[in-house]
Amino acid sequence: MKQNKTNSYVIIIYCLSLLFNFSCEMQKETSETNAQATMKINDPHSFARPQQAVIKHLKWDAKVNFENKIISGTASYQIEKTEEADSIILDTQNLTIKKVTAGKDGKDLPYELRSDLSNEIMGTPLHISLYNDTDQINIYYETSPKAEALQWLAPVQTSGKQQPFLFTQSQAILARSWIPIQDSPGIRFTYEANVEVPVGLLALMSAENPKEKNDKGQYQFEMNQPIPAYLMALAVGDLVFEPVGKRTGVYAEPEMIDKAAYEFAEMEDMLIAAEELYGPYRWEQYDLIVLPPSFPFGGMENPRLTFVTPTILAGDRSLTSLVAHELAHSWSGNLVTNANWNDFWLNEGFTVYFERRIMEALYGDSYAEMLSELGKQDLQGSIEELTAEGNSKDTHLKLDLDDRNPDDGLTDVAYEKGSLFLKWLENEVGRKKFDVFLEEYFNTNAFQTMTTEAFVDYLQKNLIEPNNLSINKEDLDRWIYGPGLPASTPKFDSERFAAVDSALQQWQTGTAPQDLATSNWSSHEWLHFIRALPEDIGIEQMKALDNAFGLTETGNSEMLVAWLVHAIRNDYNPSFNRLEEFLINTGRRKFLVPLYENLTQSEKNQQMAMVIYQKARDNYHFVATHTLDQLLGYKEETN
Ligand code: BES
Ligand code: ZN
Repeated sequence: MKQNKTNSYVIIIYCLSLLFNFSCEMQKETSETNAQATMKINDPHSFARPQQAVIKHLKWDAKVNFENKIISGTASYQIEKTEEADSIILDTQNLTIKKVTAGKDGKDLPYELRSDLSNEIMGTPLHISLYNDTDQINIYYETSPKAEALQWLAPVQTSGKQQPFLFTQSQAILARSWIPIQDSPGIRFTYEANVEVPVGLLALMSAENPKEKNDKGQYQFEMNQPIPAYLMALAVGDLVFEPVGKRTGVYAEPEMIDKAAYEFAEMEDMLIAAEELYGPYRWEQYDLIVLPPSFPFGGMENPRLTFVTPTILAGDRSLTSLVAHELAHSWSGNLVTNANWNDFWLNEGFTVYFERRIMEALYGDSYAEMLSELGKQDLQGSIEELTAEGNSKDTHLKLDLDDRNPDDGLTDVAYEKGSLFLKWLENEVGRKKFDVFLEEYFNTNAFQTMTTEAFVDYLQKNLIEPNNLSINKEDLDRWIYGPGLPASTPKFDSERFAAVDSALQQWQTGTAPQDLATSNWSSHEWLHFIRALPEDIGIEQMKALDNAFGLTETGNSEMLVAWLVHAIRNDYNPSFNRLEEFLINTGRRKFLVPLYENLTQSEKNQQMAMVIYQKARDNYHFVATHTLDQLLGYKEETN
């Protein structure tokens, strides 16, 4: 019954919002064109000049060649331009451009890769001359085998060991390494694609996807909602699909599909919980693809098809908050998008807040509280580190990444401080009103971009003023443009962690590990326990805990990494085989960084780190090697 009521409520709200959006669109048409609206947003990480000419729709025809690690294709764009504009600028990185033509008749267009303007971070702008009436351009091109977004995996790097695998990672500014594109989060377009892959492999995109392989190896895709370039995604491999709900399902290699379908069985419930919080899911289908372990992130919110690391397949559904996170991006990020990477907290802070609300709805306060507490611990660590390194500006919510690789400045400050800021607002106004505000925020700004300044303005007009809140400009500035955490930062009071703390104390005062009351602990309680162990715990104590709880052998990757950090610091050899095996087989940067970082702290371990890195580096994606090369002072041999 409740379900039916909620559904019709959702449908009514959805219709109203469509109507509302439609009338907004009409208004906009008369006052300013889309190109003009985009003009106001300046993105320091893109060469595009959308105010002159902007992409609207992409038709991508591509062939994926595993032998030479090249995608060759044609990107055809419908464009909009001002009357005066005589060129359009696209972003590229290491692409070979073969020719550019106009319209359907294919008249050649003059173009130039402006290497004189290129730089290592942003790549090379492609200037294409336009005729007065040009509304379509076709770019024939090829990617480089070193394309930074692409990871080409040999069969041995997959579960099945028989077929190769390819996946993309476009966020933040890597889409330009596999498609010539206006690679700015403020520029949205719809797309369709025809992709040819070797027979025996399935291709998937951030679009409407096929459910099974065909014997031609040719697949068609459509994405009818406008998205920014960083959400362009492709995965190719020996993949099968298993639905887990009406609108939800999982893709994985055949060896993993049962485990994946079990682990993610609650996806449909998450989707329903998310809709009950902040309004209808606008992307129709929500699937996950479990990638091979070299995927550099935990998850990536590619529309309709979240990419996830297999390191969240713990076997007990304990790491699924990551799915809630990527799902939440279907509102925060994919629907309302940060205008450029300096506003990254608008994507991630909102998403973490939303993720915890989904987890709370499904598993209760005490569960969500543990997640918040663990997140806050991470944040405090990052703030300390950034401050000690003299980078306290990176602890602001609003970032200044001009002239920097955005990837180097996107830390968990955006995530956890962003989410704490929203939690603080929630506390100030009360949950009920805050939820109405957020739902309206997503609806009013759907399929649009948001700057930090525009958000503050929206917040003033729609939350602070109507509710007479005593929040002043200084409070907001302190949160958004100031370092560290304000004194008013919300506190969490996790009873479940208090129980862990007291177990820890008992152990420290002589209780044997097996006599501690750990039997009903979830992996979050374990993680808190492991993190709270003294830094210099010593080999004997490590051994006692390991014997009692089998920590070196845990199947939970979060617990394992926290444990391995202690093993490194305390020279606890029995964990070192597992450590090496993990470093070689896992490419998730969040795990690699603390492990390698701790290894560099002693000379002996530093050597070991280099030996392992030499072996492992080929298994890592560019995003991970980019960070680790810097961390380890590694220089690639050039020949
Ligand atoms: N969108 C991010 C991943 C990302 C951020 C890629 C910046 C490139 C640049 C994704 O939603 C994310 O935050 N993933 C997290 C997991 C999440 C549960 C915090 C990750 O990969 O660890
Ligand atoms: Zn995220």
